[in-house]
Amino acid sequence: MKGNIIKSIIARQVYDSRSNPTVEVDMLLEDGTVGRGIAPSGASKGRFEALELRDGDKDRLNGKSVFKAISNIKNIIAPHLYGMDVNDQKSIDRILISIDGTENKSKLGANAILAVSMAVAWAGANVNRMPLFQYLGGDSARLVPTPMIQIIGGGAHANQAIDLQDFLVIPINSTTFSEGYEMVVNVYHGTKKIFNELGKPLGIADEGGLWPTDFVSNEEGLELLMRGIEAAGYVPGDDIAIALDIASSEFYHPEIKKYVFNLENRLFTSEEFVEYLCDIQKKYPVISIEDGMAEEDWEGHQQLSERLNHKVQLIGDDLFTTNIKRIEKGVKSGISNAVLIKMNQIGTLTETLEVIKYTQESGYLPVISARSGETEDTTITHLAVATNAGQLKVGSVARTDRTVKWNEAIRIEEKLGQKAEYLGKHIFDQIKKTEK
Ligand code: PGA
Ligand code: ZN
Repeated sequence: MKGNIIKSIIARQVYDSRSNPTVEVDMLLEDGTVGRGIAPSGASKGRFEALELRDGDKDRLNGKSVFKAISNIKNIIAPHLYGMDVNDQKSIDRILISIDGTENKSKLGANAILAVSMAVAWAGANVNRMPLFQYLGGDSARLVPTPMIQIIGGGAHANQAIDLQDFLVIPINSTTFSEGYEMVVNVYHGTKKIFNELGKPLGIADEGGLWPTDFVSNEEGLELLMRGIEAAGYVPGDDIAIALDIASSEFYHPEIKKYVFNLENRLFTSEEFVEYLCDIQKKYPVISIEDGMAEEDWEGHQQLSERLNHKVQLIGDDLFTTNIKRIEKGVKSGISNAVLIKMNQIGTLTETLEVIKYTQESGYLPVISARSGETEDTTITHLAVATNAGQLKVGSVARTDRTVKWNEAIRIEEKLGQKAEYLGKHIFDQIKKTEK
């Protein structure tokens, strides 16, 4: 039993995939076991997220260094955790929440708290010699997530080259994760080929997707994606479905209550933007729309939900910010039918698990998600399997901060062997089932 005891906690500043500083924690146990957690970081953050503590020192790393968060771990958090049983994740997370004491973790920083919480989980799994998914989810953890993968990246992840943020695909006609992933890799290369054939300049966006540099409209992204799917030899809608993360809070102007497409010089009222999304959904095989409306436009969300909910998956990211209180409000008014789960929006693993459970019990679908700023950390892949969430969104199939998570799913699927389950086409039943 003594082996499980927390002996020391090391916190350091490391760097994420966008070369911004972030918090890494090593949790050392009495028997020499180590667990590591690294906090991710978003670019299109929701207003209601837990606070990511940065130093704000303009002379250093553009104010983004995280030494305050690190000193909070060393001086405030660590002394509370020494001598605790690392397997008691819930109590440890409760302590983290209570010593912070704020609604949005602004005292210690959600980046400090989450890195500790993740390191505790890994140390707990490692000391028990178990894979993390099994340690967290037990024997019932067996649903390997169906991937939702970015092919073209826009919005805040591509310097606003295009207003919509993520053009993604879901390999619906696949029966295992590995098979589905291979299909998406083909679509990525197929789409790249189309870009090249059209002579379109190409960059790589923050999450590894293709960066459109000379588009004239947002729909051009969808057109290219359709052609990319076909170039890979698949039938859009039958083999590969489209998902969109509109991230509309990024281009909603609350002072004039308008959605503004800079690329097209086009303004929409809330009603008009609902129409725009419904048209897109009719025209293309779109089965999932994230943050179709802005985080404060609940009326718009209500309208969009009346039109599309249960026909497609409507995911709340900025809308819900992985926060039970906000999801509860959505559930009560029938807004959306899915929740994007980002650990650092809420700040501890225990709270994340509670949010996923609440989401599932409410008949909503959880989609586990990375942030646009990521690292070699693979916690979210294990989290997706542990909770049988069913879907995972990590960005694209290029760049190691993305592929580490996908490759981990391939390994987990192999480890589960015959026990592994997978949604694939059953995603449609799941979406339908959200209609009670
Ligand atoms: P972020 O965006 O991590 O940059 O906030 C990802 C998303 O909107 O899903
Ligand atoms: Zn989003």
